[in-house]
Amino acid sequence: MIADKILYNLNEIFCPNDLDRPLRGAEMKEATILKNGYIAIYGGKIYEIGEGDVPEDLVGEETEMVELSGHVATPGLIDCHTHLVYGGSRENEFAKKLKGVSYLEILEQGGGILSTQKATQKASFDELFIKTKKLLEHMMYHGVTTVEAKSGYGLDWENEKKQMEVVKSLNENMAVDLVSTFMAAHAIPTEYKENPDAFVAEVIEMLPKVKEENLAEFCDVFCEKGVFTAEQSYMILKAAQEHGLKTRIHADEIESIGGVEVAAKLKCTSAEHLMVAGDKEIELLAEAGVIGNLLPATTFSLMAESYAPARKMLDKGMAITITTDSNPGSCPTANLQFAMQLGAFAMKLEPTEIFNAVTINAAHSVCRADKIGSFKKGKNADIAVFEAPNLEYLLYFFATNLCTHVFKDGTLVVEERQLRNADLFREEFFDINEAHDQKDKAKKLKTRIPMYLDDLMRAEENK
Ligand code: NIG
Ligand code: FE
Repeated sequence: MIADKILYNLNEIFCPNDLDRPLRGAEMKEATILKNGYIAIYGGKIYEIGEGDVPEDLVGEETEMVELSGHVATPGLIDCHTHLVYGGSRENEFAKKLKGVSYLEILEQGGGILSTQKATQKASFDELFIKTKKLLEHMMYHGVTTVEAKSGYGLDWENEKKQMEVVKSLNENMAVDLVSTFMAAHAIPTEYKENPDAFVAEVIEMLPKVKEENLAEFCDVFCEKGVFTAEQSYMILKAAQEHGLKTRIHADEIESIGGVEVAAKLKCTSAEHLMVAGDKEIELLAEAGVIGNLLPATTFSLMAESYAPARKMLDKGMAITITTDSNPGSCPTANLQFAMQLGAFAMKLEPTEIFNAVTINAAHSVCRADKIGSFKKGKNADIAVFEAPNLEYLLYFFATNLCTHVFKDGTLVVEERQLRNADLFREEFFDINEAHDQKDKAKKLKTRIPMYLDDLMRAEENK
């Protein structure tokens, strides 16, 4: 078979083991690291990987050869927990945070998620689309090819739907893949403060619409002191499962109030944060096969004391991932590499554990492991390439983006640190950044994003 494209002379290629389930405990230490490796791509899929010289039968006249000495490659990184779509920003809370006002106190005072709720309700679809697109571009620069994105700053149907439609549209219009999560149960809106159960009932009523309109695959709840109780979380997630949604739960982030028990009982796909999870909680999750999505950049940004006890989790046989939590409050970053580095510096995870966490295990966390997360033949050719002598270097040389190339479905979307085809449509190549003027841009987007088109046309006319 003649390959379409071959990346070769790679110093190292990280190849996770593919067991058709998440890697647990000691399995996370295992992986194959190919030296002086090549990756052959055919039809946008992984065709063959190996070490040393590229086999001659893979190379034809049409084969594009990409020489990558001095670089390492991993499967495209997967950021499996983000709150990506929101209006405004919250740098005004930063000063309070430095003075020691806690995250939950700020929320209690009507700030935090509730202040982002106001800004998100005010923002148009188009504003949210453009803002989120920029964040996704940052993520792609850092080697990310798949991103989970939660709603949860609308808190009413109209605005939750707007957020999820932004995710849907970005998924259709950008090279990066998005996995949508419905999270209206993210905060109790002020008007429901005295009657939170009425809001729980409202969230449950939204679930069939989420499913019917195909707006999300997952449902998530913020189970936390002063937000949703374990009982309320259980009710929402149980109903979500009955409506055919997969489930996750923010549990044991700041206080341990029973979210882990809910995750275990409902066999949720994942439990998020787990910063303060104790032995009992870890055992429950390991037993139930619930993945722990760990977010060390949130601990860092909250200036909190404790990172999730990742080592204990692995010792007890849990599967874990590392992810950013990208959001305007508890973790304003779009850099998954930084979260990975904290996995090493703060959680003392080993390089192999960290790369498994953001590839094969993260693929399981977004239920896409049949297509992404490893270099198994036939999987999507999503590949991140970094300028580094070896994989360990990516964790050692911290807070500096070393990603130089990203391939999505075999197509180069980041080349020499430049975005090339961020706006790659599924059927055609398209680079919005090359359009000559706004109108031209708008015309090209016509069939895909009618609302965006309208805004750009209006902006042109008003000039
Ligand atoms: O995962 N904990 C709840 N949600 C986010 C924070 C969202 C925000 O502060 O805007 C989190 O930390
Ligand atoms: Fe979160």
